Amino acid sequence: MATSSRASTPLPKWIDNSSNSGGSGGGGGATATTDCEEFKPRLLHRVQHHRSILSLAVSEKYVYAGSQSGDILIWSIETYQLAATLKGHSGSVLSLCLSPEHSLLFSSAGDAMIQVWHSETFENLHTIYSTFDVGDVFCVAFSAALKTAWFGAQNTSIQWYDLKRKDRRRPSLTSHPNKRVHRFFDSKGPGGRSTPRPADTNTSESELLEIEPSNIVQYAHFGYVYCMLVIPASQIGQGSEGEVLLSGGGDGDVKLWAIDSSSGAISELHPLSGGDSGVLSMVVKDTMLYCGLTDGEVCIWDLDTLQLVRTVKAHCDDVLTLAVKGSCIFSGSASGYARKWNQRFECISRWQAHSGLVLASAVAGRNGRLLYITGGNDDCVAVWDVSELPAAGAAAAMVPANDQLLSSLAKLVGYRTVSSDPSCAEECRRGATYLKTLFKRFGATSYLLPTEDGRNPIVFARFSGPQQKPKGKTLLFYGHYDVIPAPSGVGQGWNTDPFELTGLNGYLYGRGVSDNKGPCLAALFAAGELLQEGKLDSDIVFLIEGEEESGSRGFKQTVQKNKSLIGPVDWVLLANSYWLDDETPCLTYGLRGVLHATITVESENPDLHSGVDGSSLNREPTVELVGLLAKLTGEDGKILIPHFYDPVRPVTKEEEEMYDPIAAALQANPASPLHNMSGAEIKAHLMAKWRFPSLTIHRVDVSGPAGSATVIPRSAAASISLRIVPDQGIDEIRQNLIVYLQSSYTGTNKLTIKVTHEAEPWLGDCENEVFCQLEKAVMSAWSGGPKIRKPLYIREGGSVPGARWLECEFDAPAAHLPCGQSSDMAHLDNERLRLVNLYKSKDILKTVFRELTKVSSSSSSSSSTSTAEGVNGGCS
Ligand code: BES
Ligand code: MN
Repeated sequence: MATSSRASTPLPKWIDNSSNSGGSGGGGGATATTDCEEFKPRLLHRVQHHRSILSLAVSEKYVYAGSQSGDILIWSIETYQLAATLKGHSGSVLSLCLSPEHSLLFSSAGDAMIQVWHSETFENLHTIYSTFDVGDVFCVAFSAALKTAWFGAQNTSIQWYDLKRKDRRRPSLTSHPNKRVHRFFDSKGPGGRSTPRPADTNTSESELLEIEPSNIVQYAHFGYVYCMLVIPASQIGQGSEGEVLLSGGGDGDVKLWAIDSSSGAISELHPLSGGDSGVLSMVVKDTMLYCGLTDGEVCIWDLDTLQLVRTVKAHCDDVLTLAVKGSCIFSGSASGYARKWNQRFECISRWQAHSGLVLASAVAGRNGRLLYITGGNDDCVAVWDVSELPAAGAAAAMVPANDQLLSSLAKLVGYRTVSSDPSCAEECRRGATYLKTLFKRFGATSYLLPTEDGRNPIVFARFSGPQQKPKGKTLLFYGHYDVIPAPSGVGQGWNTDPFELTGLNGYLYGRGVSDNKGPCLAALFAAGELLQEGKLDSDIVFLIEGEEESGSRGFKQTVQKNKSLIGPVDWVLLANSYWLDDETPCLTYGLRGVLHATITVESENPDLHSGVDGSSLNREPTVELVGLLAKLTGEDGKILIPHFYDPVRPVTKEEEEMYDPIAAALQANPASPLHNMSGAEIKAHLMAKWRFPSLTIHRVDVSGPAGSATVIPRSAAASISLRIVPDQGIDEIRQNLIVYLQSSYTGTNKLTIKVTHEAEPWLGDCENEVFCQLEKAVMSAWSGGPKIRKPLYIREGGSVPGARWLECEFDAPAAHLPCGQSSDMAHLDNERLRLVNLYKSKDILKTVFRELTKVSSSSSSSSSTSTAEGVNGGCS
């Protein structure tokens, strides 16, 4: 037995933790293991805290992380939303242990305390402590059969508490570590003063449980007790009934302890004496024990024969954490690297998991996948998909779970479907083809509809209900797979590669993830799941176009050409906007229209030098253009085109009342920028953006070398847009704009006006059946939170050319479900979508698809009550 190593017991790395002290310097593998790179784990998500993550546990629902801050953070394993922050420790949370049936969570910490929590209600059930000064409690092991927990501590002891007997002994509060007097720390200093104690942070009402002095084995190791496991006695050679305890110490030993089943008392069975390296982590797989040591080795013991089988140099630095699931073993090291090993302990994969030390790990199976979770002193928890890839040729089973939705979205975001960039044309087609394949995989019929002039194709798909009669109503879902440009690669304002979906703190980052790829896939999966579950009574038709961000070029012609393929439609649904804030679910019943134009002033001269040629005799195109632009709006911001405002509908009392709940919600949300405004101010503010028109000058471009300040440009071009509202007719606005510009232009150069794209405004009928169903579904999907209330009915200032046009073309009323939050940054850098919003949107769409396509007496009789004409006025 190694008796000499006590003095050299290494301090654990986290004791002197200074952030990123672990040297991430790449050379994680000093070993001879070579072909580890063949399998790369996929980073699913990262969650950021502000201190190191020292311990981890995982259940079917949650990831539990113990932090240096003393907090235990609990995230949903599906959405990575923070479910709770447990405050029970005043020191680093060094270990977490879930009971085998996952109902109890034990935490131990540098404050010498052990807390017991309900793993789902998060109630602090018990606080266990020793009457001795044990120092840090490094590890906890629990036997469900004996309802007993053992604790390994810095003072080299192992102690235990039998929860079956907890009611027999009442603690004498004076021995509580936060109350009792410490001989050293509470001694009087100069002037007879003692150092003030930190305030007791644990305000919970947990039951205090004091470890009985008889439940302690002092000097269990000649070093800190770093790790412990309870395993069935049958797994060790001499074993018989019951369970045994394994403990690993800083002295390099592993000890086997027999457990007395009536008292939980332990007695030493057999030491497995290693070398001088401390045992920092342990896992057992069948009858093999794997120990992670200081200095990077893993030693493997055969518990059957109690022999050391092999020692493997697994890492170049301390093996701080081990995890096992099925036939896979995972090791994490102070080098920042993690490794995956097979049953023969051959390395399958090696990768840098953290930019610092890998301090903790946990592993779980979920929806047919293997998840490996790591925590580090880079203050992050990382979730890795470490599943084996399906064997080549084996068709991946189409399990329509949210995981699949996520990986499909990752693929779709990976296509650079930028409609305004001709060099992305092929990539757009590949994106469209990928969507078609997904539709087909779910059992829809799907085609790419070619558009004129070689624009990006429209993805058409039909999920067919049974061919029975009478059929329910047919719903058309409209969306777009094209996106606006973003730099490729990290940089220029993006923190991540915009074309690589990245999960961080419950959000997905990537171009188009909110506008509109995420919502389109939510709809695709919603319909797909309904079809697979046999719950589709009628058809759901999809039109996912690839030119929306470029004004839906070619959309109308292509849809008209394929009218018979698409067939009759009863409702139109889109999901291409955002909530008003980040908290309150909304439904959108209006969009403004838009008219984009380019105004150009050109001279007959070439570009000139302003020093040589600048004179009052010159009529410079840029000066004339700027003068003309100035005539578009007055000092008060009003648009000066004659009769421009005439068709704008006056605000009625009923309409104004629709803004009351919105103003109230914004006033109640301190995070809203409108929070401090009066109700009347909020209304005026929102109406100006949603239901009154506006004019923007986007840019003025001039000829000549870029950035020159000595050239008189021969031509200048302004790009402007007008957002328009009911009942402004787009033809009339276009005509009036052109006439006004031409008649206001007094210059001598050549003026041209080109309207580049247009969209009509859309105003939906909030009372129609689609909105009713949406409202119900939104309320039930978001009812988990503290507030259950009606979604806010909002309008939007943005435009979707297809919305009003589809309504008219199919004589089918449209409705609009906004999926994202106001902070989604659509069209901007770091566009994102919250995972919960993606999943809940899918649930909402699924309910609504089901309800609207149902064969029922109400749906067949209500067809005449709402047509597309209702709120908008007639279609032209
Ligand atoms: N998702 C937007 C529409 C939108 C914008 C809704 C803002 C709500 C708030 C859509 O993808 C879009 O960007 N539309 C363009 C249309 C234009 C290119 C014809 C727009 O609004 O500028
Ligand atoms: Mn957009």
